[in-house]
Amino acid sequence: MNNPKIEFDDRMLSLGLARVSEAAAIASVSLIGRGDEKAADEAAVNAMREQLNLLDISGTVVIGEGERDEAPMLYIGEEVGTGNGPGVDIALDPLEGTTLTAKDMPNALTVIAMGPKGSMLHAPDVYMDKLAVGPGFEPDLLSLDMSPYERVQVLAEAKNCDPNDITVCILERPRHQEMIEQVRSTGAAIRLISDGDVAGVMHCAESEITGIDMYMGVGGAPEGVLAAAALKCMGGQIHGKLIFRNDDEKFRAEKAGINNLSQIYSRDDMVTQDVIFAATGVTSGSLLEGIKREITHITAETILMRSKTGSVRRMIYRVPKK
Ligand code: FBP
Repeated sequence: MNNPKIEFDDRMLSLGLARVSEAAAIASVSLIGRGDEKAADEAAVNAMREQLNLLDISGTVVIGEGERDEAPMLYIGEEVGTGNGPGVDIALDPLEGTTLTAKDMPNALTVIAMGPKGSMLHAPDVYMDKLAVGPGFEPDLLSLDMSPYERVQVLAEAKNCDPNDITVCILERPRHQEMIEQVRSTGAAIRLISDGDVAGVMHCAESEITGIDMYMGVGGAPEGVLAAAALKCMGGQIHGKLIFRNDDEKFRAEKAGINNLSQIYSRDDMVTQDVIFAATGVTSGSLLEGIKREITHITAETILMRSKTGSVRRMIYRVPKK
């Protein structure tokens, strides 16, 4: 039962969250590079759900695999956990980068964030225009109203460097052609990614490791909220605006409780209270090692973070193969 008297104990729950993330990544290992996105996603979803249901929480999935009628498991609104614990909201993506996994390309992750009830935006499964930078800048340094050209100029000035020294991460999509041209015209470099913009945004928070200073472009709205949760822990800012392609998408947003369809969300609008966040590497990338298979063991690397303390842990989990 959801007991409102039990507080969300982020410290105690964080290791459990890492286990959930690890389990999903390990479950997808036999499907890396096998060309089957659906099977890889299913394996991760099943494992994530099974582990979540072992946690002493009264959890509600607020960002999940889709609406109830389109996702059999981990759908939006699904209740998870044993029911013996605090009421929490959960945002998850059991496999962020299904195509990356199926093709054995870098930066596929399992991702999950947890916070008190009402802590995360219930973003519908529509697109979101995103703009993100790492820590150390004023929250309003950049805005979605600026052109891509201006964004690079402003960031270069704030970093006291030349635009040539800036690297921007963008999803490679035809819709971003004009944006790519504008960024290139500043002299900045672009790291084009084929998928996985949660990792793309997180890259900005560790630019000295990843080489990426800024993320921009249109991707999934659920991924935007997950990325906001990551930056709330790591530091850095993200701005997001929902993009609707038709009335049905607007209806979904209204159903999710969104009244102002043209609102620009800051990181703290998307994630309003302290959260915990875990991501495990499925395929290796700039942030995390992917799952390693040895003859007898499997190894997974997880990043586990708490926004309350700003703590970031990287944990290696090694377990005998079943
Ligand atoms: P999946 O893992 O669900 O396939 O999502 C991957 C992804 O690249 C996200 O990271 C990104 O936000 C979204 O798809 C972009 O959507 P689209 O492929 O429609 O441009």
